[in-house]
This record gives sequence, C-alpha cells and structure tokens, in this order.
Amino acid sequence: VEEAEVLLVCGSYHARSANRGVLDVARETLVATTHSVAESLSPARLPALCASQLEAPPDEVMAFRQHVDQARAFVIAGPEYAGGLAGSLKNALDWCVGADRGFYRKPVVVMSAGTTGGTHALKQLAQTLLWQGAHVIGHLGIAAPKTKSDSSGAIVDPATRAEIVALVSALIAAIDATEEHRQEISERTAESLGISHYPHQA
Ligand SMILES: Cc1cc2nc3c(=O)[nH]c(=O)nc-3n(C[C@H](O)[C@H](O)[C@H](O)COP(=O)(O)O)c2cc1C
Repeated sequence: VEEAEVLLVCGSYHARSANRGVLDVARETLVATTHSVAESLSPARLPALCASQLEAPPDEVMAFRQHVDQARAFVIAGPEYAGGLAGSLKNALDWCVGADRGFYRKPVVVMSAGTTGGTHALKQLAQTLLWQGAHVIGHLGIAAPKTKSDSSGAIVDPATRAEIVALVSALIAAIDATEEHRQEISERTAESLGISHYPHQA
C-alpha cells in the first residue's frame, strides 16, 4: 500500500467523470504545496458490507482500510444518485467502521459534482464520516459540472477551480491545526449541513 499524507477517494465508477475532474484539481493543489497524495482503491471494487466479516474482511476491503488507516487527511468526492450518496461509496465507508484508526479525528473535505449539486449526497457523506469520528472541515457541491468542464472532463471554469482550491487549502490548514480547533470547524460544518455531530452532540 502506497503511503501518503492525503488520500483521495473517488466515488464514481467511471474513469472519466465529473467527480474525477474535481479530484484532479484537488490533487494538483496538494502536489503544488508539496503534500504527498495517493488514491484509494476504488469503492466500486469492494463487495457489499457483511457485518459479520468486519473483523476479518476480504482482501480488497483490507487494502482499502490500509489506505485509510495510513492517511492523515482525505479528499472524498462522489456522485448523488436518486437523491442520495452513491451506494458503493457509502458501502466502502461502512467497511471502515472496523478499521484500526480509520477516519477517527482526521480532517476530511467532501465534494459532490452532479446535475443539481449533490446536496443530499454531501449531507449523507458528511454524516457517515462524522459518525466515524472524522473532522469534516468543509464541503462543496458542484452543479451542472458539464458546463464547467472541457471535453475530456477536466474542470476549466475558473470560479469552480478557485472553490476547490479554497476547500483543499482549508484541509491543508486543518492538518496542522489542533484537534480542538478541527473539532470546532467540524461542528460548524455539521451545523451548516443541518446534521448532528455524533458523538459530541446528542
Ligand atoms: C441513476 C442516476 C441517478 C442520478 N440521480 C441524481 C440526483 O439525484 N441528483 C443529481 O444531482 N444528479 C443525479 N444524477 C446525475 C449525476 O449527478 C451525474 O451523472 C454525475 O455526473 C455522476 O458523477 P460522475 O460523472 O462523477 O460519475 C443521477 C445519475 C444517474 C445515472
């Protein structure tokens, strides 16, 4: 497993995708600021969660978890399908409930690129990460991504690129912030999304 400071997780099955496009901008930003970056095994490669296997999961799940355990911070982007987070991404995150360190007290930013801007997907993505103890530092929905991309799927719209750079910059700042400060930011993120910050808020 490749070790890296920041792990990218792409919730889209397609190699060329809107969510891939936004992660590419995130990767460029991280590399330009000398942060090491790797990408996780695709969530689409993982079998459906079998809770009785959480202690001794299949090899692909172990590989995904090792990526997650080793990273210090995360950029996660995934589509919204039928008013909710892409199922394969939710499934991959559910498998991490059995991880050694997982997302616990680590900074994460979440994005969703899709027709209406992935509002529901973002909320559900943040919720499942918060319930695993992550510090969710920020979120960004990108509506109508085709109008912001070139024919190869690269995000070219300057305003959208600037929003992604700002989100990733907040993540970078959070890596070196105190846990208390990250917790405060995360509670504000949860509030802005209208969700609870388990287990710190009943
Ligand atoms: C089955 C299906 C359901 C979808 N449902 C939604 C939806 O609820 N909200 C939305 O904004 N986009 C929806 N879309 C459009 C996706 O957001 C769009 O295809 C997006 O580009 C997918 O991400 P990707 O390009 O990274 O694979 C849906 C697409 C499919 C195929």
